[in-house]
Amino acid sequence: MERHDELTWWQTAVVYQVYPRSFNDSDGDGVGDIPGIVERLDYLDDLGVDVVWLSPVYDSPQVDNGYDVRDYRAIDPTFGTIDDMDALVDELHDRKMHLVMDLVVNHTSDQHEWFEASRRGEAPYDDYYIWREGHDGGPPNNWDAVFGGSAWTYDETRGEYYLSVFSSSQPDLNWENPRVREEVGDVVRWWLDRGVDGFRMDVVNFISKTPGLPDGDPSDDIIGSEHFIDGPEVGAYLRELHDRVFADYDAMTVGEMPGVTVASARDYLDGGVDMVFHFDHVNVGVGKSGIWNIPEWELPELKAVFEEWQTGLADYWNAPYLGNHDQPRAVSRFGDDGEYRVESATALATVLLTLRGTPFVYQGDELGMTNYPFDTPEEFRDIETRQYIEWAIRGEDRTFEDIAPAVRFWSRDNARTPMQWTDAEGTAGFTDGDPWLAVNPNRDEVNAERERADPDSVWHYYRRAIELRKAHPGLAAGDFDHLLPDHPDVFAYRRDGGRYLVACNLSGEESTVDLPWSWDGAERLLGNYPEDGTDTGPTLTLRPYEARVYCRSRSAD
Ligand code: GLC
Repeated sequence: MERHDELTWWQTAVVYQVYPRSFNDSDGDGVGDIPGIVERLDYLDDLGVDVVWLSPVYDSPQVDNGYDVRDYRAIDPTFGTIDDMDALVDELHDRKMHLVMDLVVNHTSDQHEWFEASRRGEAPYDDYYIWREGHDGGPPNNWDAVFGGSAWTYDETRGEYYLSVFSSSQPDLNWENPRVREEVGDVVRWWLDRGVDGFRMDVVNFISKTPGLPDGDPSDDIIGSEHFIDGPEVGAYLRELHDRVFADYDAMTVGEMPGVTVASARDYLDGGVDMVFHFDHVNVGVGKSGIWNIPEWELPELKAVFEEWQTGLADYWNAPYLGNHDQPRAVSRFGDDGEYRVESATALATVLLTLRGTPFVYQGDELGMTNYPFDTPEEFRDIETRQYIEWAIRGEDRTFEDIAPAVRFWSRDNARTPMQWTDAEGTAGFTDGDPWLAVNPNRDEVNAERERADPDSVWHYYRRAIELRKAHPGLAAGDFDHLLPDHPDVFAYRRDGGRYLVACNLSGEESTVDLPWSWDGAERLLGNYPEDGTDTGPTLTLRPYEARVYCRSRSAD
């Protein structure tokens, strides 16, 4: 058993991600807003979370729902005003909670004033973005954009191409320019001085590109990505930003890093950021041809990913998550959103809240919200999904029906349907108007009002698991020791020098396992089924998606 008395505020915290557009609408325009979040803070307090991470609320044309920032120092009128933002920070602090903003600085909107000046070639902004001459009558190199098409767009005004690795309305900032890095530091300081407690840093391992911008391997799903992911200066830029700004504050930082490896994560965690979001678990079963296929995977592969990161960052700190606004709903991705929705959502909650690190809960996952039954292409709002559909059915050889299963599975809109507060038809209590994206028809069964009244609900299980984690810092910080890595159905591990045992059946079949643990004096701390007398070990029979957490007072096996 280790001592855990020197943990920081964010190491003992549970973070809750709010996607403002879909959380709660206070003014009836069908889009969530900041006053709407304030109305629901007691709900979050009751759940027991301590930090709210807010997806972007900056002024933005909303081409990518705010991940295209027009002004880093203004709030988008869709979401409210700067006074609303200040009030949110105060209300959170009054409840001893913290606020983390999204920092989107790999790119800006093409409507940002820096970009408008840059395309006109005006100093000092001319070199704020990545401009190149064309090559052989086409773009400067063969890189793809993450959202489809070329990563380069020709700009008539400037007579050159600019790089945008997401969509053409999100031009990449030129981080090689020290003035750009200073501007970013100033933005960060401005918000920290306003009382914000930290940042989730959007695709921040994309900020450095291979010098010379060489062509990428043409067989890659996203051509060129090896030249814009984990580039040579990412660690140095993050350390510079830390030393220049974050070092003066008791803030938390988590870098969103698609494609990051354990080795490069360790580099970024060395004085750069506090935590890293990797993608290895959410990409389990995703082959080289990319996400637009239904993934096929076996549990040992998923468990191996958790083991790799839990042990690979044993001297650092993890940021476990199962869902966010870019992923399918966790219960639809990793569990069973039909027959075993409640059991699998709670089993997944058990994993999320008993891994080492700071867990991130995505809004609605505490209700066991599921993917949405999308029907026609017109129902999608997300730029990534829409651009993919347009591209995939541009020729004669495929129709929407051919790609529909994968699109329905992966579309980011699954996680963005409105939060289900009540069973109200069409709105689920999210708005008094017409919601910007349809409400999931399962709102009758899956909603906060109903679940808060039912002690056996997913919501109450999350609340209990969060409370348990708070009471046991060894679950946050103790070491992770994987058991039965090859078992096809059960994910089991010991934590904190063997003090805790976690056993989760992540399948729809009953499974009997022998778990090597010293059962003498074991106490059951948590479980998602009623106790059935098999609680003494070492042989446990776990029902479909059954999860249990045990503790014993004596240390070391
Ligand atoms: C991140 C965001 C995603 C956004 C992209 C481009 O992955 O989470 O929503 O589309 O970056 O900013």
